[in-house]
Amino acid sequence: MIGRSVVFTAELNKIPLIANCDSSVLISGDTGTGKEMFARSIHYLGPRADKAFTPVNCGAIPPDLMENELFGHARGAFTSAATSQTGLIEESDGGTLFLDEINTLTLAAQVKLLRFLQDKEYRQLGSAKTRRADVRIIAATNSNLEQAVNEGCFRRDLYYRLNIIALKLPSLHQRRSDIPALATHFLKHYNEEMHKAVEEITPEAMQMLVRYDWPGNVRELQNVVERAIVFATGPSLNRSDIILPHDEPSSPSESFQEAKARVVVEFEKNYIKNLLSTHGGNITRAAETAGKNRRAFWELIRKHEIDKSLFKGSN
Ligand SMILES: Nc1ncnc2c1ncn2[C@@H]1O[C@H](COP(=O)(O)OP(=O)(O)O)[C@@H](O)[C@H]1O
Ligand SMILES: [Mg+2]
Repeated sequence: MIGRSVVFTAELNKIPLIANCDSSVLISGDTGTGKEMFARSIHYLGPRADKAFTPVNCGAIPPDLMENELFGHARGAFTSAATSQTGLIEESDGGTLFLDEINTLTLAAQVKLLRFLQDKEYRQLGSAKTRRADVRIIAATNSNLEQAVNEGCFRRDLYYRLNIIALKLPSLHQRRSDIPALATHFLKHYNEEMHKAVEEITPEAMQMLVRYDWPGNVRELQNVVERAIVFATGPSLNRSDIILPHDEPSSPSESFQEAKARVVVEFEKNYIKNLLSTHGGNITRAAETAGKNRRAFWELIRKHEIDKSLFKGSN
């Protein structure tokens, strides 16, 4: 796993210890911060490694089907239940069940899960028979579970039970120093996967990545690098290869001058691209419309590393 910042390694260093115990774990952090990756590491570094790791996104399963999904049902449990069906708990016996978006569990499912965590026992829907399974639970949430508890949406006893071991993953903007290593890691990965020859990220492009706020965290960074590599034509990724949603002023430490310079650069780049697009890559006509002479216009294209061939015949 990539990351050396203090806030990240503080959590990373706990993994070996957590892997070697069997308590349930609650991992919280915004979307894309690496919760599932942490859960997998805990599983594969521990004694359950040769059994299944089963991820379940609780938020993607309709709430009224969740109990059935986790615990299964007996034959005749409801009108359409012609046969019995095993649940994920039973199927994960010996292994680890990763319950993502645990905050979306219905209160009924929460009760059953708590009982299971306490006694390793549960019942299928419509069955009086108690069953046992040996499953480690790792839960994850991207919303504040404590707040959900205070609002009465999440059971306090279950929260305490899950929270015995808590990991809190920092958002990417809280560990900007890790961005270069992560970006380089994804560059290498996709470069190899797509058989490209992109060797590096220019310092200017890297600075752009470090400054951006990354609401989608590591996953968003991964996607941005992937897209940049798909379209990259040269040996390095430069500023114009990196496309961010809206290149917003992100760093509060940025001076007025820096912020203004950055916006001007963005403006020039977009303005020129639009013109080139309108005129199908014809420099003379684009320059004319801009009210600039051809040479000055060329300078701008070079300055912003715009590939004018991309606009040929685009109008
Ligand atoms: N520290 C890291 N080093 C390398 N890749 C990471 C790291 N953290 C996250 N990723 C990658 O980012 C993506 C999102 O991570 P994931 O664990 O699915 O996040 P979450 O479950 O919090 O939404 C995955 O592709 C994962 O491999
Ligand atoms: Mg996830």
